[in-house]
Amino acid sequence: MRAIQGALMLFTQAVVLVTGSAISINTESQLQLIDGFGVSQAFGRAKEFQDANTTVQKQALDLLFSTNAGAGFSIIRNLIPSSSDATIEPNSPGSPSNPPTYRWDGSDLGQVWFTTQAARYGVKTIYADAWSAPGFMKTSGNEATPGYLCGTPGHNCSTGDWRQAYANYLVQYVKYYQKAGLNITHLGFLNEPDWTTDYSQTQISDNAADAISFIPILFDTVKEAGLNVEITCCDATGWPKQTTYTDALVSAGMERYLGIMTSHAYGGDADSPLDTTLRTWLTEAGAGDYAFTTTWYNNGAINEGMTWANKIAMGIVQADLSAYVYWEGFEIDQQQSYSHLLDVDGITGDVFGSGAFHAFTMWSRFIRPGAHRVSTAGSLSGVTIGAFLNPDSSVVAVLTNNGPMTQTVQISVPSGKTSASAWLTDNDHQVASTAVRVANGTVAVPVTSHGVVTVKFT
Ligand SMILES: *[C@@H]1O[C@H](CO)[C@@H](O)[C@H](O)[C@H]1NC(C)=O
Ligand SMILES: *[C@@H]1O[C@H](CO)[C@@H](O)[C@H](O)[C@H]1NC(C)=O
Ligand SMILES: *[C@@H]1O[C@H](CO)[C@@H](O)[C@H](O)[C@H]1NC(C)=O
Ligand SMILES: *[C@@H]1O[C@H](CO)[C@@H](O)[C@H](O)[C@H]1NC(C)=O
Repeated sequence: MRAIQGALMLFTQAVVLVTGSAISINTESQLQLIDGFGVSQAFGRAKEFQDANTTVQKQALDLLFSTNAGAGFSIIRNLIPSSSDATIEPNSPGSPSNPPTYRWDGSDLGQVWFTTQAARYGVKTIYADAWSAPGFMKTSGNEATPGYLCGTPGHNCSTGDWRQAYANYLVQYVKYYQKAGLNITHLGFLNEPDWTTDYSQTQISDNAADAISFIPILFDTVKEAGLNVEITCCDATGWPKQTTYTDALVSAGMERYLGIMTSHAYGGDADSPLDTTLRTWLTEAGAGDYAFTTTWYNNGAINEGMTWANKIAMGIVQADLSAYVYWEGFEIDQQQSYSHLLDVDGITGDVFGSGAFHAFTMWSRFIRPGAHRVSTAGSLSGVTIGAFLNPDSSVVAVLTNNGPMTQTVQISVPSGKTSASAWLTDNDHQVASTAVRVANGTVAVPVTSHGVVTVKFT
């Protein structure tokens, strides 16, 4: 039995090598823009990072943001805090027409430090997202209980219509960062508004009427303040709900005010494009209920690297995502949870990555902000192929093999390119340099079963 299987494997590989049609990359045919990949340090994780010793801090920053030693992440997602201890507007001015009293502690839960570090590594996409409006602006009167923004359709409050006040508050938050020399580029006013829970959040209705009545106000307020910020909506819990919101937003003409459609992956992965002319981002995904592990592939569990390799590939190649952002980046001694990509080894004291971290690195280090996904021709059974043209004109292909055996992929060298390098991640390799054979204008590279290979042409 073993011998037969071995023979079959050899035979199949040989067939692929001889008759497998080469994959070709058409860099003239440009698809979606790529903004990049990233993480958050929300809910105190930025402060924990800031307070870590310098050895651990430097290792984690390099792993997150370095394009040589790390994932080269290019997006961070910050929390605009609404809890009374951390918000910039803890107290109600009594009425929306009264002047607000803002305060700024210069730290913002460690996120000013984290944003400054990210900027030093060249990160330019800073997404600030409000989980909730301050409690006094909501129907529930509490930032941590379910409630709607007062003044949106069907949600009247005795204190009045707080929509303009909420827009002013969000703009003020951006201005505080601006004064600290940091440019917030994307602004969100919701987080999982279809979910009810006991931490910061604002609800919206299924028809998004509440969001639709607020977005133009926020747009005008951002514009009047002279800020160069794109507005996002709606960070729904999952792709199906964001699809519903997107349809409502698009038919209400909201595309002219918004920059990005945003969704999380908990209630469903990004598996097909949203029906919008706007770019789309997957802004939060993770598996907090599962243990932190370096496992790459065992049985396809949600806390395995290959599972995340597939989620990213599906999101970028099938759902046309322009960004994929994991939940948290770095946490210390939280290995009960797959909520984050990096933790600290209890014995060596070194920072190390989960399997998902390596999956992200295979994309993020090589496909840089401003790249475009480009068309490919040809296919290989069980292999997802994504190809990209970088701003520096290098061309990258990411090959994700879910097949039961190693397949040698042949890719025509794109015109104008003269050399190729490749990296492999599977059960035995972590973003390891791997051999590519170039002959007759074609590159041949083996992609192991349940493995990912990234090829870069320069
Ligand atoms: C809510 O407020 C709007 C605008 O001020 C008003 O037209 C509407 O009648 C109010 N609805 C209720 C139920 O009070
Ligand atoms: C922020 O934007 C301003 C104006 O475009 C620019 O001069 C500055 O370099 C930017 N700062 C950072 C840290 O990117
Ligand atoms: C730095 O912090 C980590 C995480 O708490 C710890 O494991 C490590 O021993 C510390 N290293 C030094 C040099 O203090
Ligand atoms: C390259 O192409 C030529 C002409 O088609 C062929 O004779 C040769 O065997 C090819 N070389 C390789 C290494 O495939």
